[in-house]
Amino acid sequence: MVKRFGEFAAVDDVTFDVPTGSFFSILGPSGCGKTTLLRMIAGFDEPTSGTIEIRGQNMLGVPPNKRPVNLVFQHLALFPMMDVAENIAFGLKRRGIAASEARKRVDTMLERVGLPGYGEKRIEQLSGGQKQRVAIARCLVLEPSVLLLDEPLGALDLKLREQMKVELKKLQAKVGTTFIYITHDQSEALVMSDRVAVMNKGRFEQVGTPQELYGAPSTPFVAKFVGENNTWKAAVTKSDSGGVELKTDEGYSFIAKANADCREGSRMDLFLRPEAMRIEPRDRAGLNVFDVTVKSILFDGANSRLLTTTREDHELLVTLPQNRRFDHIVPGDEISVGWHPDSGICFEAEE
Ligand SMILES: Nc1ncnc2c1ncn2[C@@H]1O[C@H](COP(=O)(O)OP(=O)(O)OP(=O)(O)O)[C@@H](O)[C@H]1O
Ligand SMILES: [Mg+2]
Repeated sequence: MVKRFGEFAAVDDVTFDVPTGSFFSILGPSGCGKTTLLRMIAGFDEPTSGTIEIRGQNMLGVPPNKRPVNLVFQHLALFPMMDVAENIAFGLKRRGIAASEARKRVDTMLERVGLPGYGEKRIEQLSGGQKQRVAIARCLVLEPSVLLLDEPLGALDLKLREQMKVELKKLQAKVGTTFIYITHDQSEALVMSDRVAVMNKGRFEQVGTPQELYGAPSTPFVAKFVGENNTWKAAVTKSDSGGVELKTDEGYSFIAKANADCREGSRMDLFLRPEAMRIEPRDRAGLNVFDVTVKSILFDGANSRLLTTTREDHELLVTLPQNRRFDHIVPGDEISVGWHPDSGICFEAEE
């Protein structure tokens, strides 16, 4: 589908399928068109061209309240004068469901979102994460085929976001509702989703499982946006079926896995994940090995890394593995690092 505002295509020829009952995320930077896309699915905007089907039903021209979808907004809008149960029952009441039946459904839903017995609490008595769960419960109680979530964790602090990520994933698995989740946070998308679409400037760059996006990005944008990277600029000096020889602008010769972009003489961007870099490899055979200087140790528990530089002052992040101890490494040390040709990701350089 396409959505234009005047000449500008906010959503530019995007096509995708979401399997029933799966968790699908749309990941992209601010302004790439995520909310615009969601608003079309919800029915608040009509596409300039294209179609939207939910469970085989064409949605074009169907008003938002007649679509089997519900939208959880980034800035949630709970009613502060109503208690938790009244908030969740709001939509049921509007559908004319009897109070006793509504009460039952609300209680079931409170159980599901992990807030049993919270019905009589006032909204201001809840934490940010609890409010978010009430907002989700209020949508889920209407039993939509699809729940749309527009950066629902954006307003929460980091610790709570980490916690809610896991809870949302568990909740989705339990209720089995199809979730379409929008975020600009790659970690949220990777942790929760069955499949992720990476969006850039109104287009989908790649749709795949979190593992595919991380391990085999199909465009430089995806490689840069999903996960951390070390980058090099290089030229292809030799290319055959066995692999390619790259010469970086600083003069390093590396061997990398060949791909269609690698023709002799072409300019390449080479991406290396921090965990692809092995520290002081014992067996150097087949690895690209060189020396770096440790600038600082970025301690972050299991995700600790070294910030290092080459002699040419090229910065490289190197993951500190958990299965070996590297307590002896201190800033100022010179260490060798190596990476396997298969772990380098190459694309023809962007001009
Ligand atoms: N009603 C509108 N009229 C004109 N331009 C619009 C309108 N709505 C959105 N846009 C433009 O379309 C582009 C995509 O906007 P959108 O809100 O979909 O981005 P987003 O990916 O949700 O960003 P964010 O992560 O910041 O929420 C932006 O450049 C925006 O300025
Ligand atoms: Mg948005």
